[in-house]
Amino acid sequence: MSYLKERILQDGRVFENNVLKVDSFLNHQIDPQVMVEVVKEFERYFKGKKITKVLTVEASGIAPAILVAEAFKVPMLFAKKMEPSTMQKSSRYETIVHSYTKNISTKIIVSKEYLDAKDHVLIIDDFLANGQAAKGLIDIVNQAGGTVAGVGICIEKSFQTGRQLLEEMGVDVYSICRIASLENNQVTFVE
Ligand code: G4P
Ligand code: NA
Ligand code: NA
Repeated sequence: MSYLKERILQDGRVFENNVLKVDSFLNHQIDPQVMVEVVKEFERYFKGKKITKVLTVEASGIAPAILVAEAFKVPMLFAKKMEPSTMQKSSRYETIVHSYTKNISTKIIVSKEYLDAKDHVLIIDDFLANGQAAKGLIDIVNQAGGTVAGVGICIEKSFQTGRQLLEEMGVDVYSICRIASLENNQVTFVE
């Protein structure tokens, strides 16, 4: 069993049969050991693929993304959720990400300076639920004319629609933990 799965079983807390809180080691307080183990698995799966950049969205994706980027010896780039006052509209890619969970739409922004048609981009995030954040990042890579090398996820909620959405777009999705159900406030992994 992967270290992340062990920690989810040990320290994760389930709320309302559909939300997994991992604030003690992944989303708020961060255990570097978890990140190191997670990155080994991403490295194993994605090695051999051409990758020039790792892309995520702030905030929780940044920690795993930066270690993955270090492993592949490429820069890590994160999409910003706040309007940067110093970045002109013409010099940035932007897209709207709708969260069905939170029922809010957020604009995410990446400077054109750091992403272009030569890039092969590995997208990394902590959670995959409905896939809207990953879809937004894919949209940004497409605007740049770049190539999506794959999507790497720490925790996939397989009972939601994200994986299917990304697979239908032809994207290679690798998740370290796939959760089949959080019913009865219990974590059940995909076999
Ligand atoms: P989607 O991108 O897959 O469509 O996700 P969704 O809108 O459902 O989720 C919105 C936010 O909630 C995302 O974080 C996502 O990572 C997070 N999330 C979704 N399900 C869970 C869960 O069961 N547990 C936890 N801990 N988080 C979950 P965010 O608000 O965009 O950003 P961040 O600042 O936390 O990175
Ligand atoms: Na995230
Ligand atoms: Na999050």
